Amino acid sequence: MDEKIDKKLFIQTLGCQMNDTDSQHIIAELKQHKNYTTTDNIEDADLIIINTCSVREKPVSKLFSEIGQFNVKKKEGAKIGVCGCTASHLGKDIMKRAPYVDFVLGARNISKIKDVVDTKGAVEIDIDYDDSTYQFASTSTSLYKTSVNISVGCDKECTYCIVPATRGDEISIPPEMIIEQVKKDVARGAKEVTLLGQNVNSYGRRFSDKREKTTFTKLLQEVSKIDGLERIRFTSPHPLHMDDEFIEEFAKNPKISKCIHMPLQSGSTQILKAMRRGYTKEWFLNRAKKIREMVPDVRITTDIIVAFPGETEEDFEDTIDVIKQVKFDQIFNFKYSPRPNTAALELKDLEIADEIGSARLTEVIELHKVHQTELMESNIGNTVTVLFDNLRPNGEVSGYTDNFCQVFVKGSDELLGKFIDVKVTSATRTALKGEVVK
Ligand code: SAH
Ligand code: SF4
Ligand code: F3S
Repeated sequence: MDEKIDKKLFIQTLGCQMNDTDSQHIIAELKQHKNYTTTDNIEDADLIIINTCSVREKPVSKLFSEIGQFNVKKKEGAKIGVCGCTASHLGKDIMKRAPYVDFVLGARNISKIKDVVDTKGAVEIDIDYDDSTYQFASTSTSLYKTSVNISVGCDKECTYCIVPATRGDEISIPPEMIIEQVKKDVARGAKEVTLLGQNVNSYGRRFSDKREKTTFTKLLQEVSKIDGLERIRFTSPHPLHMDDEFIEEFAKNPKISKCIHMPLQSGSTQILKAMRRGYTKEWFLNRAKKIREMVPDVRITTDIIVAFPGETEEDFEDTIDVIKQVKFDQIFNFKYSPRPNTAALELKDLEIADEIGSARLTEVIELHKVHQTELMESNIGNTVTVLFDNLRPNGEVSGYTDNFCQVFVKGSDELLGKFIDVKVTSATRTALKGEVVK
């Protein structure tokens, strides 16, 4: 430890799983180098950090009201730091609007946390900064599950998306660093790993040193060789890079969890083109069909944006058509939100009226509810294998099946960390209940 006195960190995380991992890295770095431990109580904190998301407009406006609250509640002398994607794109404007903020740290600069934390006024938001080979202090989250970043940034140019502007170009983390990290976590007791990146299946094209290109499929093969690791998950893959080799590995590798995220965005080839997604409606349907054929019990999740500028009723019907054909197990729905530094801003004249956007969103949600009920209820009476990871105060234990369906049973901590057969007795739209098969 660099410093002796115990200090308390309160950290709030918004946004995606990458942000969660970034927050874990911040906690671990500050613990190791600055002697911080976490607290859930803002009033106790010596340092308050908010790790922000800027993918949609709402979280950004929320940011300023939230840090204003922090400033009121914080104890005398406590510091406030703003990290993450909104930090990347607003930079020092954050301090202009909220002068009590002590430092600003962009999503691509997280490894500098120990340096900025004691530098009043520090703003580190370099979008070309490369921390892909930085060895973060060890994190200690869930005992049975771990998340490991496999790349930083995103090389795509989806016209609605701010991420390339907040997280920069895509750089893959060297495979040996990923393997070493997973091995360490498995030695600690982890049985499941989630490999994380904005675009995981374009892994291996660019590293920070000069080395041969590789592929995500090869990485999956290497990770699955690790003894003691039982389940591999990953997010987010891109439908464009779901080639046959990748789908076959997904289907045949017994360690890979049979749940896949296929972010559709739109079912209209026309809109997909305007979004610069690189695939067509037919390609998406073909990939989903191949996955379903090869993995009959697969669960498929997706992201959908409605009311992208120029989206006609016909375009929207194409989205509905894909939803009907694929029957997604989970849909994350969004209404298009114009973001700074994105190409879609040029389509301002084609923006869709808010009430039309809301009506389309509702239609997607209602249709999806019907599918969810049908899909979840089809599990009743089946026996599923669950890795239990969470003991709840009400005497229930929860975990996930191999195809990432959440299951609850009555039980004790004896179930934790084990793969156990459960007979499903009931279903809601989002989870199953059952009894342990003796
Ligand atoms: N790289 C990830 C996407 C990260 S952003 C992937 O491809 O899966 C997560 C989701 O937010 C996107 O898939 C998209 O559906 C949604 N999103 C991104 N920008 C948006 C915007 N401007 N308006 C509405 N939704 C958006
Ligand atoms: Fe994650 Fe994107 Fe939000 Fe950043 S902007 S936290 S990458 S969802
Ligand atoms: Fe965004 Fe598309 Fe990359 S959604 S994160 S630009 S794959």
